[in-house]
Amino acid sequence: MSTIYYTACSLDGFLATEDHGLEWLFPLADIRDTSFPAFFETVGALAMGASTYEWMLRHVVRTPDDPGTSWPYAQPVWVFTHRRLPVIAGADVRFVQGDVRPVHAAMQAAAGERRVWLVGGGELVGQFLDAGLVDEIRVQIGSVTLGRGQPLLPRRFTSPPLKLLSVAQVGSGFAELHYAVPRPA
Ligand SMILES: NC(=O)c1ccc[n+]([C@@H]2O[C@H](COP(=O)([O-])OP(=O)(O)OC[C@H]3O[C@@H](n4cnc5c(N)ncnc54)[C@H](OP(=O)(O)O)[C@@H]3O)[C@@H](O)[C@H]2O)c1
Repeated sequence: MSTIYYTACSLDGFLATEDHGLEWLFPLADIRDTSFPAFFETVGALAMGASTYEWMLRHVVRTPDDPGTSWPYAQPVWVFTHRRLPVIAGADVRFVQGDVRPVHAAMQAAAGERRVWLVGGGELVGQFLDAGLVDEIRVQIGSVTLGRGQPLLPRRFTSPPLKLLSVAQVGSGFAELHYAVPRPA
């Protein structure tokens, strides 16, 4: 039962543009060619921040104009926010705020033998890292630069360094890097 930050970013380390755009990301590869489908099979609980949830509301959730898409997660999802955000019919979404530690404990209990997936964004994952709760980081580095945007991980993490476990190429669009996060001595 590990906790993993699994995500994709630009070569210069941004999850999204300044205005939360992800249009640059999807042309880089067919997601079915990446590690994501196998990874997703191992996920038992998800956490995301308000901006990521709002992106899902804008782009993924079924709307009267776009009946072809729907909430993609059968697993429970914890959304960190200080606001009242719209709820999605049929989605197991739990709104929380503040200290990530009790939320992580609840996520682990729900996930059982499966993984806890930290979806992002970077500052929220930084809070889990600060609390020593992240075991792995798997990031698809896209072959683009954005110049500015929402950061992958706004933390200084130098000593001990992350441990690189594997590198994989996905066409010309992605380098997938898999790291173990060392536990503090
Ligand atoms: N490239 C990818 O694969 C990928 C993956 C994930 C996300 N994304 C995108 O990257 C962007 C990330 O946006 P972001 O950097 O703003 O991060 P975010 O984590 O999605 O949202 C940040 C917001 O989460 C809430 N939050 C964070 N920690 C909290 C806490 N402890 N308690 C209560 N609320 C808390 C706050 O919202 P409020 O205080 O406003 O409620 C905060 O402003 C989004 O556009 C997302 O779609 C891309």
